[in-house]
Amino acid sequence: MAPSHTMAGGESGDSYSQHSTYQRALLEATKEKIDEAITTKLDLYFTSNSFSFNVADFGCSTGPNTFVAVQNIIDAVGHKFQEQTLENPKDVEFQVFFNDHSNNDFNTLFRTLPPTRSYFATAVPGSFFGRVLPKDCLHVGHCSYSLHWLSRVPRGITARDSPAWNKDIHCTGFTKEVADAYLDQFKVDFGGFLSARAQEFVSGGLLMLLGSCLPDGVKMSETMKGILFDCIGSSLNDVAKQGLIDQEKLDSFNMPIYVAQVGEIKDVIEENGCFELEAFEKVSHANDEFPLDAKFLATLHKVTFGGLFESQFGKDAVEKAMGCFEGKVQDSLQELANAKAGMQFFVLLRRK
Ligand SMILES: C[S@@+](CC[C@H](N)C(=O)[O-])C[C@H]1O[C@@H](n2cnc3c(N)ncnc32)[C@H](O)[C@@H]1O
Repeated sequence: MAPSHTMAGGESGDSYSQHSTYQRALLEATKEKIDEAITTKLDLYFTSNSFSFNVADFGCSTGPNTFVAVQNIIDAVGHKFQEQTLENPKDVEFQVFFNDHSNNDFNTLFRTLPPTRSYFATAVPGSFFGRVLPKDCLHVGHCSYSLHWLSRVPRGITARDSPAWNKDIHCTGFTKEVADAYLDQFKVDFGGFLSARAQEFVSGGLLMLLGSCLPDGVKMSETMKGILFDCIGSSLNDVAKQGLIDQEKLDSFNMPIYVAQVGEIKDVIEENGCFELEAFEKVSHANDEFPLDAKFLATLHKVTFGGLFESQFGKDAVEKAMGCFEGKVQDSLQELANAKAGMQFFVLLRRK
């Protein structure tokens, strides 16, 4: 099994929980869309005394973003319940499943659960590319900023003798063969995610996917994200030249990340066939693109990808590389300002 890489745990200054406002902006910007989706697309069926409702967040990390996401859903379901039954939404028993890799910092998640929450909380450890919940139990599922993580580095791209070998860690050297290998892996993974969820959902259940993608025809290397990945690669190479990272190891390292284009995401949904695509919307908000702030960007990338790099090259080498990365970002601010725009999306799927 490929090792899993989680966000920086805890609540200290170097943690994901303290440095995830960029991701949170999208959750806040989609609150109304979630409300509308639940009001107009969700069927609530209640038997006389069974008012239980199951929600899951796939790729929840440590919080607080996941708490915002599930609260948005619970508020919307509560309103709908009240309108439909004229009963108090407090009568609904909400069960929330928090899913992430088993080495996610669930302790921090549970220690910081909102004290006034109106739901039961359960951890569901394990990769969301496979089944993590029983059949036919899920009413609303949510997944934000997680599906660009692949289950593995695509086959072929780390081997020197392969036509798809990519010496770089990601975008530079993104030849057609490398791009095809990444896309193939994304299709397998995202298709597997949908098939697993299809079994877990009740018919008519809603799955909401949020995150970053690319407009059709835009390459990742042309966007801020791609330029920043190249800066990280170049920083790791500088540290390898100083002898702190084995160059051979670095040359055969690639990131298990694929930011898909709109059409690629839609194709997988259609090919999978288990969900109706109810909406695929571009979301605009104040944090749409990364702010041009080298320190902010260095910290964001460290809490998000630091664990992955450290597992390969060790803590000291990565500390050094991330320091170097901040300088390179500072030198690339003009290029970053001229980069092509990526896109933040909200996808609404309904289990057939
Ligand atoms: C950038 S964080 C997003 C966290 C949160 N959803 C948010 O919006 O702030 C991505 C999360 O996805 C999780 N993740 C990635 N691949 C996963 C997988 N195959 N199964 C479960 N969780 C996964 C990571 O461990 C990480 O916590």
